Amino acid sequence: MEIYLDNSATTKPYDEVVEKIVYALTKEYANPSSIHRKGVIVEKQIKNIRKDIAKALGVKEKEIIFTSGGTEANNMAIRGIAYANKKRGNHIITTQIEHPSSLNTFKDLENEGFEITYLDADKKGVIDFEQLKNSIKENTILISVMHVNNEVGSIQPIDKIGRYLKNLKNKIYFHVDAIQSFGKIDFKVSKYNIDLLSVSGHKIHGPKGIGFIYINEKTKIKPILTGGGQEYDLRSGTENVPGIFGLSEAVRITTLNLENNIQKMKSLRKLLLDEITSNIDNIKINSPEDGVCHILNVSFIGTKGEILLHYLEEDNIYVSTGSACSSKKKASHVLTAMGLSKDEIEGAIRFSLSCMNTEEEIKVAVQKLKIRVEEIRKIISKR
Ligand SMILES: Cc1ncc(COP(=O)(O)O)c(C=O)c1O
Repeated sequence: MEIYLDNSATTKPYDEVVEKIVYALTKEYANPSSIHRKGVIVEKQIKNIRKDIAKALGVKEKEIIFTSGGTEANNMAIRGIAYANKKRGNHIITTQIEHPSSLNTFKDLENEGFEITYLDADKKGVIDFEQLKNSIKENTILISVMHVNNEVGSIQPIDKIGRYLKNLKNKIYFHVDAIQSFGKIDFKVSKYNIDLLSVSGHKIHGPKGIGFIYINEKTKIKPILTGGGQEYDLRSGTENVPGIFGLSEAVRITTLNLENNIQKMKSLRKLLLDEITSNIDNIKINSPEDGVCHILNVSFIGTKGEILLHYLEEDNIYVSTGSACSSKKKASHVLTAMGLSKDEIEGAIRFSLSCMNTEEEIKVAVQKLKIRVEEIRKIISKR
């Protein structure tokens, strides 16, 4: 039995998504910018997809821009706002626990003369709203905060931030990286006063290499990809038609089953937590109790997360150490910001669930996990 518990890294596409991609590749292969009938048909279908996604979010059709995924959406929001509004100010607020697609973009902007404030995270992986309020200055143009942290699943107070920013005299744009929250938390963009929101297809059982960004129509933003201006002049390049078709199916299924799937993941996460805590000793739960429904980060003290990951892979169980993109590099910046010790960071494993997982998988995974943890502890203690 293959047990895939690495759904924050990526998810398995729905069968309907695969069918839609194949359909687009084999039937609707015309360029949507072509003015002949075949092109116009594709253009119309993309228009309808955009409309459906906008409806799911409760926003306008022209406020949805397709991107090559979450990384591009985050780059577009951060660089686009910074460059278009730099005459008004050069100060940006973000957090220490953002995904590298945001953090490394901020590092770049720092080198270009922007001033970036990186907010702290507490033991639960949550930022302090008071610190955010106190960091705002006359020249602040953007606040960029992830909704759900991809390593521990902590949920940031974006509702509070949005409400607060709405009442300020100076316009400060609010960007939310919703890549780990879309499909996992039921929320409406308009309610939270968000100006820009990033979503990625492959985290919601859609294809890789496609995503979208919501940009409020009143936003002053500079495009980062210039060319033919295909996406309302905000993003250029021939549309990824198979990706957009697949994404539309993933958004449709995600939206349709949202509440049921959230409840399912919540109960699987609870089962995983209960099974781990009752079967394995000397552990530390790094995810907050009130964290997102699909992520559970646990340190198995006296083990090395990376070794444990490869032992579990022998049992056909797939997990992650930190986030997939950063797990090959140095110690997790998120767990470090949360104040974990070196041993706790080294022994950390991220389990991430999806609606495709079952209770049986969780039980089997923990039985194997218990054996592997004991094995590794024995080897390490003999050294
Ligand atoms: C919170 C968060 N932001 C951004 C990204 C990047 O998204 P993509 O893989 O679509 O570029 C990820 C992917 O792991 C993520 O978890």
